[in-house]
Amino acid sequence: MRRKLAAGNWKMNGLGTAQDELRAIAATPTRQTDLLICPPSTLLERAAIVASDTPLEIGGQDCHANPTGAHTGDISAEMLADCGASYVILGHSERRTDHNESNAQVAAKTLAAWTSGLTAVVCLGESLKERQSGQTLDVITAQLAGSLPDGATGENTVVAYEPIWAIGTGLVPEIAQIDEVHTILRAELVKRFGVMTGDAIRLLYGGSVKPDNAAEIFAVPNVDGALVGGASLKSHDFKAIIDALD
Ligand code: G3P
Repeated sequence: MRRKLAAGNWKMNGLGTAQDELRAIAATPTRQTDLLICPPSTLLERAAIVASDTPLEIGGQDCHANPTGAHTGDISAEMLADCGASYVILGHSERRTDHNESNAQVAAKTLAAWTSGLTAVVCLGESLKERQSGQTLDVITAQLAGSLPDGATGENTVVAYEPIWAIGTGLVPEIAQIDEVHTILRAELVKRFGVMTGDAIRLLYGGSVKPDNAAEIFAVPNVDGALVGGASLKSHDFKAIIDALD
């Protein structure tokens, strides 16, 4: 039985005052849902202090594939863990676009995350052009194969399906489209890692998840939670999404 996961990706948002929102999220009672917020790296340590002794977990939004070295501006997986993070988002489409990250680089970062004891939230998703030209399933299966190294388990890996055209746009795929992609992702995970492991890896949906569409999305069998952007910045909205999941 997979536990649910409500994950918030704050992207490049949040100053010290955002700790009040974190406190409110950390105080949300849940029964079967794990809670995760990935703030900008400037807030990681403060967020980890707020989250200590609560069910809220803290994660980074990226890490370098190398453990140390001359990489100005980058952060290693070990540094994230040292700040109190237990997860890291990898391969988000904004990183793949803004920083030209390839599947191979995402896989290398995933290995680095595992080495430091972090759970990798590996993101994938098709562009609007790929969706419209019928390439969605080919694109996401290729991204999954290329971004996820051997050795994935239900503990060290979460996969997030985020159609690029649904991110921050208010557009959401039809429920049948989410179902189709998540069913394929589950089948691919089982084929590659076996039934036990393939069934244990959680699959999140991300892209314009809001309080008013969350319940319908969470009713899809292979949707184990959400990776939420904008609606995770306000504790009121994120709590409503947590409630729909829990
Ligand atoms: O990683 C979360 C994300 O890309 C979705 O963002 O704002 O559409 O919920 P948003």
